[in-house]
Order: sequence, then C-alpha cells, then structure tokens
Amino acid sequence: MWEQSCGGSSPPFGNLSDTFEVKVMKKRGRVAVLLSGRGSNFEAIYQNSLKPDANFEIAAVISDKKEARGLERARELNLNAFFVSPKKLKPKEVYEKRILEILQEHQVELVCLAGYMRIVGETLLSAYEGRMLNIHPALLPSFPGLHGQKQALDHGVKVSGCTVHFVDAGVDTGPIILQKAVEVKEDDSEETLSQRILKEEHKLYSKAITLFFENRLQIQGRRVIIST
Ligand code: GRF
Repeated sequence: MWEQSCGGSSPPFGNLSDTFEVKVMKKRGRVAVLLSGRGSNFEAIYQNSLKPDANFEIAAVISDKKEARGLERARELNLNAFFVSPKKLKPKEVYEKRILEILQEHQVELVCLAGYMRIVGETLLSAYEGRMLNIHPALLPSFPGLHGQKQALDHGVKVSGCTVHFVDAGVDTGPIILQKAVEVKEDDSEETLSQRILKEEHKLYSKAITLFFENRLQIQGRRVIIST
C-alpha cells in the first residue's frame, strides 16, 4: 500500500538545465480503530503512527459506547471520532451499515478492533474480510472471550501473552498474525498480569499493522505467512 509519487521544487525559470530535487512521498495506510472502553491500544497505535517512518495513520475512531474514554481521547487528539449507537440503530445490520458508511467516507483500508466489545456481524465482516484485525490478551487459541488474563491465572499456566489475529465470524478464532509470550509470576494478580500483557499489546498491534501495510501478510487456511 506504499505508493510512490514524485514531487519537488520547480526548476527556477530560465534555468531548465538545473536538476531538481525528487521527493518520494509515502502514502500511509488508513486505519480505523473500533473500541468500547479505555482505548490504551488505540492510543499506542496512534503514538506509533506519529513516528516518521510509520506506514499507517488513523483515519477514524469509532465507538459503540458514548462515554468510552478512548473516544473522548480521540476527540482530544482531534481525530475523526464517532459514536454509533447500537441501541438506536437496530437491527445489527443497520448499526453496522452506519459504521461502514463512516469507514468508506474516510477511505479506511484496515479496521482494528481494540477492546471492541461486540461480535462483528456479516455486514462489516464481508466488507472488510482479510482487512480486519483484533488483539486478545492471551495466547490463542487458549483463553478466548472475556477476561483472558484471569482465565490464564485460574488455569495455572506459567506463560500467557497476547495475540493479534485476523477477525472471522467466531470469537477470537481468526488466523493468528503475531503473538508475544509473557511470563506468569507466582505472585501475579489479574491486575499485575494484565498490566504486563498490555505493555506487550501496545507494541505488538502496531507491528502487525505495519506488516499488513507492507503487504507481507498472506492467509493460507489457518496460517498467516509473513513474507520477509
Ligand atoms: C485489551 O486487553 C485487549 O487485548 C482486549 O481488550 C483490552 C482493551 O484495552 N481485547 P484498551 O481499551 O485498549 O486499553
């Protein structure tokens, strides 16, 4: 999705033999973040998008919760921020069509779910098939669904972590792109483990987005091949 175009300063009048500078402009991939709460993953993605070598930018932030802290933060950052009410827009198809309109209006190429507490329906899935990611706070396929960190602690695993995966119709079941392991310590509580995992989530999500816009992800059945 990187595009090259040539620009640069015009040659001075009357001196056409001068060589003029050719600048390479990189078009950044356009990301929408869907969230329902705190929005720390959104903010990490946003911060990473500000780096000079980033290949993506945030085109829109959409929330199903009016009071979501992440939405408020997106507004503070002057990003395109939208609340879409699932209560007012029923059935789900109508709600998702409104989201789709926003995504299309903002030329969104990749949708990133980040603490979005809804199962994505057919309307959004079919429009963004292979172009929608999610992050989960456990090493999938272990501990899908809610409270992945607590499930891991309760089960007594010694290692947990986080996973970025493509979204499919199931709950946290899509093809896995990247995972990062995090040690579970003897004295961990749900909070301490969640905090350590979250730190890794904040790095992992942007890595996956970068790979996506480098066109390096290829889905082959359940596997995601990352080309070098
Ligand atoms: C994260 O732990 C993410 O893995 C899960 O929901 C949480 C969202 O946190 N899907 P935040 O809103 O990004 O801070």
